[in-house]
Amino acid sequence: MVKICCIGAGYVGGPTMAVIALKCPAIEVVVVDISEPRIAGWNSERLPIYEPGLDDVVKQCRGRNLFFSTEVHRHVGDADIVFVSVNTPTKTCGLGAGKAADLTYWESAARMIADVSRSDKIVVEKSTVPVKTAEAIEKILVHNSRGVRYQILSNPEFLAEGTAVQDLFAPDRVLIGGRETPEGRAAVAKLRDVYAQWVPGDRIITTNLWSAELSKLAANAFLAQRISSVNAISALCEATGADITEVAHSVGRDARIGPRFLSASVGFGGSCFQKDILNLVYICECYGLPEVAAYWREVIRINDHQKSRFVKCVVSSMFNTVAGKKIAVLGFAFKKDTGDTRETPAIDVCNGLLGDKAVISIYDPQVTGEQVSRDLAMNKFDWDHPRHLQPLSATDLAKQVAVAPDAYEAARDAHAVCILTEWDEFRTLDYKRMFDAMHKPAFIFDGRNVVDPAKLREIGFVVYAIGKPLDDWLKDMPAVA
Ligand code: NAD
Ligand code: UDX
Repeated sequence: MVKICCIGAGYVGGPTMAVIALKCPAIEVVVVDISEPRIAGWNSERLPIYEPGLDDVVKQCRGRNLFFSTEVHRHVGDADIVFVSVNTPTKTCGLGAGKAADLTYWESAARMIADVSRSDKIVVEKSTVPVKTAEAIEKILVHNSRGVRYQILSNPEFLAEGTAVQDLFAPDRVLIGGRETPEGRAAVAKLRDVYAQWVPGDRIITTNLWSAELSKLAANAFLAQRISSVNAISALCEATGADITEVAHSVGRDARIGPRFLSASVGFGGSCFQKDILNLVYICECYGLPEVAAYWREVIRINDHQKSRFVKCVVSSMFNTVAGKKIAVLGFAFKKDTGDTRETPAIDVCNGLLGDKAVISIYDPQVTGEQVSRDLAMNKFDWDHPRHLQPLSATDLAKQVAVAPDAYEAARDAHAVCILTEWDEFRTLDYKRMFDAMHKPAFIFDGRNVVDPAKLREIGFVVYAIGKPLDDWLKDMPAVA
């Protein structure tokens, strides 16, 4: 029986290994983590992450050929294939702060593998890492090998949160990079056999190590670039009376461009796009390519601009002051169908409103009050001028932020509603009921284009929706673009 051990039981390690276990009953899969609460969560009825369809997959194979454990050393030692799926956040201090990937967790995992291994291993990079990381990992393993032979493979993960199970069941492609030596090719073939249990052969791409590592950063940069492009056009739509939905539809009908991933929004969030583009920027700078670095940096700048443009629009529409006004925030997660709030645009938007002394009431179906408080109390990193910006004090946060049990409660006595995540339930709310319980004029700022502006205007709302022709009310306001 092939034994797989995955280091890191997070958003990637957990679902990916659960699907491998489901599709490959002859493989024993153990997911290990240094975080005891995380492992306890994976072994409980309430999994530590929310992902549609995941409960079902885990229930089918947990205790059969899927195990979650904190006994990191034992399981790594026993495995034939070790996936490393630890976090690789952006460095916040030292060389490359604000851009470079922090490989501390990765390096400590690699050193631990070298310490506990007594048999040959295939080590698979699942985390997103800078191109050439495999070389560094190889050096650590080889210099501490005590006779154990290693093959390093790059097998980046392309799943998106909220659709992880679906993406893993039917991936657009699986990418495996390895050394171009007989041993390297054999290792690639072994991993390929695992995926071939359910992924059609023509969807499994094999490349050299550096192409695989770089393809992941490139794919995320291209995807994020699409959103920044459509968001940049959304600002122009608002200024001209064009409608971003119509423009995106027309542009996306060009088969070379395609219709997906062209929804204008208050900005992209999530643990990947910003971090991976910053990482790409840093790599370009290190290789002496400042123009290329500046090109990708702009994708993030437009994203920041989109968030601050939204806040400015809220404040200027409401007579240039939101001080003491209750604003309902619907949605805090970075996208629907996840409780993940890493780099969610809601953090910047809420901080912007709090800076103007608004009182905000947040409702999100999957985000707890504790998570919201943690996120809003976090120091914000200024990427352009590496330093931490001070958030509101705990006392001010408690005074200005509340979490509501539902959307109606959040909107009761509010002056405005801001929609920041595209949860399906926000499309079918009784907006008349909300309107009746709000101060007038009642505003809706839709950062995800989930409501029909015409219908809400009929109810009596003043409506702003990203990239949509402006309400007469907003036309009289100073330009926000
Ligand atoms: P995560 O923070 O949810 O999970 C990482 C886990 O690794 C944590 O539970 C942490 O406790 C554990 N860990 C860290 N160091 C460890 C060690 N030495 N030994 C054992 N466990 C250790 O992160 P994630 O979202 O799953 O992302 C993991 C990697 O996958 C990142 O490189 C990320 O860029 C990449 N990725 C993420 C996504 C996504 O949608 N989240 C998609 C594709 C790729
Ligand atoms: C992304 C990549 O899609 C995935 O392939 C990679 O493995 C990890 O990073 P994820 O961050 O989980 O996945 O979610 P994604 O669906 O890509 O959304 C990222 C952000 O972009 C979200 O905030 C989302 O709301 C926003 N977005 C996405 C838009 O604003 N408009 C769109 O059209 C699509």
